[in-house]
Amino acid sequence: MEVIIHPTAEDVAARAADICCDALNKNPALVLGLATGSTPLALYAQLIRRHQAGQVSFRGVTSFNLDEYVGLPPSHPQSYRHYMHTHLFSQVDIDPARTHVPDGMLENPMDAGPAYEAAIRAAGGIDLQVLGIGANGHIGFNEPTSALHSRTRVKTLAEKTVTDNSRFFQPGEFQPRLAITMGIGTILEARRIVLLATGDGKAEAVANMVEGSVSAMCPASALQFHVKTTVICDRAAASRLRMRDYYQFVLAQQDALTARFGLR
Ligand code: PGA
Repeated sequence: MEVIIHPTAEDVAARAADICCDALNKNPALVLGLATGSTPLALYAQLIRRHQAGQVSFRGVTSFNLDEYVGLPPSHPQSYRHYMHTHLFSQVDIDPARTHVPDGMLENPMDAGPAYEAAIRAAGGIDLQVLGIGANGHIGFNEPTSALHSRTRVKTLAEKTVTDNSRFFQPGEFQPRLAITMGIGTILEARRIVLLATGDGKAEAVANMVEGSVSAMCPASALQFHVKTTVICDRAAASRLRMRDYYQFVLAQQDALTARFGLR
């Protein structure tokens, strides 16, 4: 795993935007995996600014979001379809017909997973997957004890996730306990992964993911099996990593190579 530590959350977003824009400019037909939550908001704001400045286009892009709540229609302000429309899709030139979010409104939600897996396969797989990480180590809604080879399916949210996300819902408002999420096995098939983590609330999860044992108790630790994952975190999220100095040294070497040969 490549670990990049930046001073602030804004720097994290800028670095992630560099990687996304570079990939989009190299491959205008990129298949992009997208995440929701508060962490990627600054990344999406950067991508919109760069799009407005004419530096990047999403015209040929196909996107797949990680997850969606069961029981929230796309028009619901807390649905992830609504989030993506508001914070990215409506502000760039992406073709809405090529944006995919799992369907949380099927009569039988268990049908959503296989359909989503088939759509990802039909698109040729995900080239670049953007991820956040839950304070409990989840990626997508793959909560602790999720199978490390799991596929897109219905997942019951952990109490910690329900509590963490309750800030987005009004008091007394229906908050789903079920979600459709790409599985860990699905995520691991992305050709490249960029995981963003900011704030000290993520410090323990980041340390477990990067330096802990691979364990279903920290689903993100499965990324240790992935050959091209970049973890970008701010100082607070990196504060419990033991090998920070090493990562900074590696980054200096990488930056020197990038300055000479361009981003890989
Ligand atoms: P957050 O969520 O960005 O809102 O902290 C991250 C996640 O749960 O994956």
